[in-house]
Amino acid sequence: MTEGVFIVFEGGDGVGKSTQARKLADWITSRGREVVLTHEPGDTEIGAILRDLVLNPKWGDVSPRAEALMYAADKAQHIHEVVLPALRRGAVVISDRYVDSMLAYQGAGRVLAERVEQIARWATQDLLPDLTVLLDLEPDRGLATIAEKDRVEGAGEEFHARARQFFLDLAAEDPEHYLVLPARTGVNHLAGRIRERVAPLLSAPTGTVEP
Ligand SMILES: Nc1ncnc2c1ncn2[C@@H]1O[C@H](COP(=O)(O)OP(=O)(O)OP(=O)(O)O)[C@@H](O)[C@H]1O
Ligand SMILES: [Mg+2]
Repeated sequence: MTEGVFIVFEGGDGVGKSTQARKLADWITSRGREVVLTHEPGDTEIGAILRDLVLNPKWGDVSPRAEALMYAADKAQHIHEVVLPALRRGAVVISDRYVDSMLAYQGAGRVLAERVEQIARWATQDLLPDLTVLLDLEPDRGLATIAEKDRVEGAGEEFHARARQFFLDLAAEDPEHYLVLPARTGVNHLAGRIRERVAPLLSAPTGTVEP
């Protein structure tokens, strides 16, 4: 068992994940607990290079398999270098995107579903979040806030609609570990609901399994 708490924010592009992740981090910090606010992809030195490889349109036709493996490599490094060390010293780790994004975008959104989950779980040493906050929104409304779209953001309406449904299905299968909130319902209102759900996790021993 690790001492820390692992919280993940998921959802489509522009739904407000980073906004809420920051607010939650500030609140937990103010309660005197160490917080590591991080994101996938790209929050390690290797990850930053991989993030550019997967998201920059200049690379053109990236094979879906290559894309999945680059995301997996980013996750493997992120878990090894950032997430597990923080959890082991008892910190609260808040990650802006995690495995579900990979499943939704490299799995359900594309045609590789069956292998992608195995690869993602292997890459992350089967580490599961204590709580995933899913901010749900029609893809159009989230994407509309993004002026210059990267390769994934520009991938088309149907792709993003499938990804949204996939996130919702994952949450429905495991309500104990998910909090689904309609995005765009007021930054402070959302922050309050997230705090309510997170508060008990900060005191109780967590179920995080050490790989
Ligand atoms: N609850 C909310 N209601 C209305 N607007 C919001 C809300 N939360 C965030 N926004 C606005 O939506 C935009 C996207 O927010 P944010 O960057 O937090 O989303 P994100 O999910 O992290 O996006 P990305 O996928 O690009 O990382 C910002 O302009 C932000 O101010
Ligand atoms: Mg963001």
